[in-house]
Amino acid sequence: MKKLVVSGGKKLCGSVSIGGAKNATVAILPATVLGEGVSIIHNIPNVNDVSLELRMLEEMGAKVRLIDKKTVEIDTTNIVSPTVSYELAKNMRASYYFLGSLLARMGTASVSMPGGCNFGVRPIDQHIKGFELMGATVEIEKGMINAKSEKLTGTHIYFDVVSVGATMNVMLAACKADGLTILENVAKEPHIVDLANYLNSMGAEIRGAGTDIIKIRGVKEMHGAEYTIIPDQIEAGTYMTAVAATGGNAIIENVIPKHLESITAKLRSAGVTIEEGDDWVRVNRVEPLKAINVTTMPHPGFPTDMQPQIAAMLLGAEGTSIITEGVWDNRFKYIDELVRLGAKITVDGKVAVITGGAQLTAAPVKATDLRGGAAMIIAGLCIDGITEIEEIVHIERGYEDVVEKFRGLGADIKIIDTPDEIIAKVI
Ligand code: EPU
Repeated sequence: MKKLVVSGGKKLCGSVSIGGAKNATVAILPATVLGEGVSIIHNIPNVNDVSLELRMLEEMGAKVRLIDKKTVEIDTTNIVSPTVSYELAKNMRASYYFLGSLLARMGTASVSMPGGCNFGVRPIDQHIKGFELMGATVEIEKGMINAKSEKLTGTHIYFDVVSVGATMNVMLAACKADGLTILENVAKEPHIVDLANYLNSMGAEIRGAGTDIIKIRGVKEMHGAEYTIIPDQIEAGTYMTAVAATGGNAIIENVIPKHLESITAKLRSAGVTIEEGDDWVRVNRVEPLKAINVTTMPHPGFPTDMQPQIAAMLLGAEGTSIITEGVWDNRFKYIDELVRLGAKITVDGKVAVITGGAQLTAAPVKATDLRGGAAMIIAGLCIDGITEIEEIVHIERGYEDVVEKFRGLGADIKIIDTPDEIIAKVI
């Protein structure tokens, strides 16, 4: 079993370079299917969700070649299978983007129900509603989502909830539909704009990504394209928060500061100094952290994917902080783990109340999900002692080179791999 071992108590200093956005990449890789030809995608993050999607593409018949650690060439000329198997889809969410792209390319798609972080029920009704309004039939059978359509037709779709996944999936399906598709009440995250930019570079006609209304005029042909993924807003925010939590002073490089504004604003209200350059931010904390209230919301609100990390930081703030989760029904599972470390937090529904300043002590904890795992690292970095984090597979799904990057900031962190037979003997 692999564990992360964090020996905390050091201020993070120096610099860290941010990789490509995971949640953009996991939509852009399925989008390559839409152009019959070769795409070269730069700045892909080196994380498990991306490796899984590359394997899905290979199983469909695409030729995948890693040019270097961050660049992949994908030739989708000979896609022959419209299927994403359970084996590959069970551990990640974004496999469902193949529904939209395969439906548009082949008129049929069969994708295993997705896995991913468990935040309670994660419905996909809005994806299905969009496909059906465009003329597809969608059935769920034996754990597979099967979508079919002789011809997708452009139409007006008003989403009932703001959904990143549904916005992207229906955008993919609409690229080759007959006529104009108008999407309303859409998500506006930076990765929505990134996907639209890639699709447009492949010959799609998409306008309005990043606003409340997206218009897609269907085209007959799309081609491969060369594209560079944007930096990961949440990876950047995670390191910003970790530096602030430890009272450090570091530069976070290769970021788009505009994408970080909601995070920067909250850190500033907590007493952290943030300086912004063209593609970097410097985070410096000298004063004690102040308690703040945070409510997560779809972009441009404070991202739900930063909620656990800022909660971990606020354990060290003076006073009471209130965190309200505005996107997911159940994204506080990780709090039980923070409580194991001595945190004083009460949860009532979607609200967590943190009494800052409690004495934290090292204890074994687990990563309950991707960002919950990041929160364990941040808490561990602030504790004088050794915090061992289990179930790090969640962290590896979404953070590239996490040990190397934290070490580069001066953290004492390592992965240990205890063979299961040793554990069995001890038991
Ligand atoms: N929802 C519905 N019906 C749907 C789709 C969503 O009711 O058909 C609801 C969800 O239950 C949730 C809300 O709408 O309450 C927002 O869900 P959304 O569809 O936006 O989430 P997602 O697309 O499944 C992506 C990210 C998540 C991130 C959310 C919100 C990917 C692969 N995942 O999920 O990222 O939390 O958007 O920003 O892009 C993470 O990276 O740690 C992560 C969980």
